Formats: sequence, C-alpha cells, structure tokens
Amino acid sequence: MSLTLTLTRPDLLRNANFINGLWSPGAGGLLDVTDPATGAVITSVPDSGAAEALAALDAAHAAFPVWRKVPAKQRAAIIKRWNDLVLAHQDDLGKLISREQGKPLAEGKGEVTYAASYIEWFGEEATRMNGDVIPAPVPGRRMFALKEAVGVVAAITPWNFPAAMIARKIAPALAAGCTVVCKPAEDTPLTSLALVFLAHEAGVPPGVLNIVTASRDNTPAVVDVWLDDPRVRKITFTGSTPVGKHLARRSADTLKKLSLELGGNAPFIVFDDADVDAAVDGFMAAKFRNGGQTCVSPNRVFVHRNVFDAFATKLTGRVAALKVGPASDLASQIGPMINDRAVEKIERHVNDAVVHGARVLIGGKRLAELGPNYYAPTVLTGADATMACACEETFGPVAPLTVFDDEAEVITAANGTPYGLAAYFFSSDLRRIWRVAEALESGLVGINEGALAAEAAPFGGVKQSGYGREGSVHGLDDYMVVKYVCQGNLL
Ligand code: SIN
Repeated sequence: MSLTLTLTRPDLLRNANFINGLWSPGAGGLLDVTDPATGAVITSVPDSGAAEALAALDAAHAAFPVWRKVPAKQRAAIIKRWNDLVLAHQDDLGKLISREQGKPLAEGKGEVTYAASYIEWFGEEATRMNGDVIPAPVPGRRMFALKEAVGVVAAITPWNFPAAMIARKIAPALAAGCTVVCKPAEDTPLTSLALVFLAHEAGVPPGVLNIVTASRDNTPAVVDVWLDDPRVRKITFTGSTPVGKHLARRSADTLKKLSLELGGNAPFIVFDDADVDAAVDGFMAAKFRNGGQTCVSPNRVFVHRNVFDAFATKLTGRVAALKVGPASDLASQIGPMINDRAVEKIERHVNDAVVHGARVLIGGKRLAELGPNYYAPTVLTGADATMACACEETFGPVAPLTVFDDEAEVITAANGTPYGLAAYFFSSDLRRIWRVAEALESGLVGINEGALAAEAAPFGGVKQSGYGREGSVHGLDDYMVVKYVCQGNLL
C-alpha cells in the first residue's frame, strides 16, 4: 500500500521547474517520480535539458548583483521565515519525503526537523559574516579582509536526504548573498520543489533560487551548461566519488570553487574496553538510519576478539526485531531501498562476501514479498578486506563484522581505504580515545556516539570522500571569498 499524499497544503506538490520566480513546465518530456515501495508513479516533473539550465542560470546571474547587496539582516529574516514555514509544514513535507524516498514516516518528519535546523542556523549566521581588521605594518594605512558572496552557485543534491541536503547547501548560499541554480536528484525531486516553493513564499526574490528537474539521462545536459559557464562560480555536490571527480575535472577550465561531499567507507570499531550495549545502540543508530542509505553509515565493523561474541549476539537480536515495511505502515523502521540498482548492489555485496567465506547471521536476502526494493537487514561474520562489501560503499542495511586483536592493526585496517568521511569507535580508555581519534583518517569521528551530524558542526570528508565543509561557520565560509582591501596615504 502507498502512503497517502493527502496534504494540508496540496500546492506543495509541484510539477514544474522554478525559474526567475515562475513555475514553468519545461520544453522537453516528463520524468516520472515513483514510490520505491511499490514502483507506482506518484506524479511527473519536467525532464529538463540545456535550455532550462541556461534559463535558470541567466536568472540567477541577473539576480546576483541585487541579492548580494540586500543587507544581511534582511536576508537573515527571509531565511528565518523559510525555516518557520518548513517547520509549519513538517507533516506534509515528511509525507513527501517518505513517499518519494521510501524512509519511514517518523524518519521523514525527523528529516524535516534536521533540514530546518540548517536553515535556522544559517539564517542566524547571515548576520555574523565578519571579516578582519588587520594591523597595518606602516603608518597611514588601513587593511581589511572582507568576506563576499562567491557568486552564482550550482547545487546538485542527492536522493537520500532530499530535504536536508537542499537545506544544507541552499541556506548558506542565500545567507552569504549568493544566488542558486539547483538540480535535485532524479529519484526525489518533489521534496526539493516543495522547499523551493516555501522559500519563495518566505520572500526569496525571483531569480535568487532556481530549480530544474531532470532524469538520469538528461542530467549531464543540465549540469554541463553550468560546468562550462564561467558565470557559475561554485559547485556544491553530494554524491558518488566518480561523479565528484568528473565535476572537479569539468569545472577546472573555469576554476570554480567546489564543495564535494562524496562516498564513504566508514569503519566502526568496538574495542575490548567498550561498553558493548552502548556500542550496539550506537551502531543501530548509525547503520540503520534511512536503511543504511547514508554516506556516514558504518560500512566495515571491526570488533575486538574478547567482545566479538557478545556484540554479534546482541546486534543480531536487535536486527531481528527491526520491522521492515513501507512508510504507509507507521510501525516500519526500515523502508524499501531507493531503486532496483540499489538492491542489486546490496545483493552483489552479500553474495560476494558469502562466496569468499563470510557467514550470514541474519538476513542476507531480498524481501520480495514486501515489494520490489526491499532487502532484509543483514549481519555477516567473517568479513575481510578483500570482499566487495569492504572495498565499496554498500549503501544498504548490511553489517559485515570482522574480528581484530590489537589497536595498531585495526587502525591500519580502518584507514586502509581511499575514503575518509566518517569513522566511529567505542572505548572507555581515555588515552586510547585520543590516540585513535587522532589516528583515524576521517573528516568526522564519533567516539562512543553513533549520531554525529548537527547544524553547528562541520560535515565533510578527507581523501577521496571530498573537500569543503557543510554546516557550521565553515559551511558558510565555503560560499564566500575573501577580498583584501588596503587603503593608504591616510596621514
Ligand atoms: C548523507 O548521507 O549525505 C548525509 C548524512 C547526514 O547528514 O547525516
């Protein structure tokens, strides 16, 4: 059964691009948006191409000189009104998220709160973009470092957090005085369109925020326009490492500023001095949020030999109790995966692990009786570094456990990946805690904690997980450039 889309504000369900303050149908074909729980079509949106991308960019470019001069306090007031509207429509937005993305309704509504926390934070930070007054080395001179909006920003957003990732990119852009062109993920355009609708209602002027939807096939036509055009001064992207590298290469000719939040391969380490119950709690929170479809989801689980059996047994018990089902069932804790490609990848990883000697403690199969895109929450033992599930991000509800004996060995194993987004460990030894936190090659580290992200904290990776930060003051700096101004002859 599908989640009903009876919205308190039916006009939140938008079917068009938003360019220069107007909803426009697009010149090309249509892109069907489907419910991942059933495969049923929810509605259609424009399958845009280069023409729509260019129109959006023209609008953003024309709006920039005006928006950047709007006093920060006024920009802040608009962004804070956007936050209020998002929270006021939490139920409707939560339904939209769950319907097109598949996550349980409680998580859909929770994502709205999470998204709003970024909007509120950047609305507040807009008035605090202070520069520096620099002591001059000679008399009669004054020196300043001013922070200025970088320019037009192209935001390319993912499907796994359709509200939060838009908020985390667009709110700081607007706060800094940038204008935006956005291409939301092809699987989940409806939430993004609804958020843009509310931003407009909050008072974001025409041309400042533009959004065009496109299918997977047409996305390059849209994005290439923005990559090639020197008027786009920054690209912000969340998604896979190969696509991030492509964007970096393609934007090199015009030397755009880039924020790339890319793939992860997070280690989760349980030392023998850890509180095993707390480690299981932390793991459940980190791993099974959004069915494992998060870039900070633990992908490799290293458990010390002395606590391995206790951890594996408790974890398997907790996984057995998880209720898998559609968002329409309020008891569901794990929804469908986003699409068939996602399920095929999970299936490939589990099968590969089993062929190479891993053992399934629970799960390990599709749940076809529930629908096309369901995979059972799975715990494997006997995983090792050669298996596909240890080398690639599974992006699903699979926990491959590996036993380890000593700290140096597990740090080498944890760092033995080209990626470095999130890492987690559980320990009660204070000296070890700082040793390990400093040794892990990762942008985010959770110590005795499975839920890391917060609007006031910097989010982003190292190594091939990307660069740039979202959230926090660093997430605002990423949308600004520093201009040094020197005035002389003042004596
Ligand atoms: C992501 O998966 O891209 C974001 C996860 C988060 O914000 O915690």
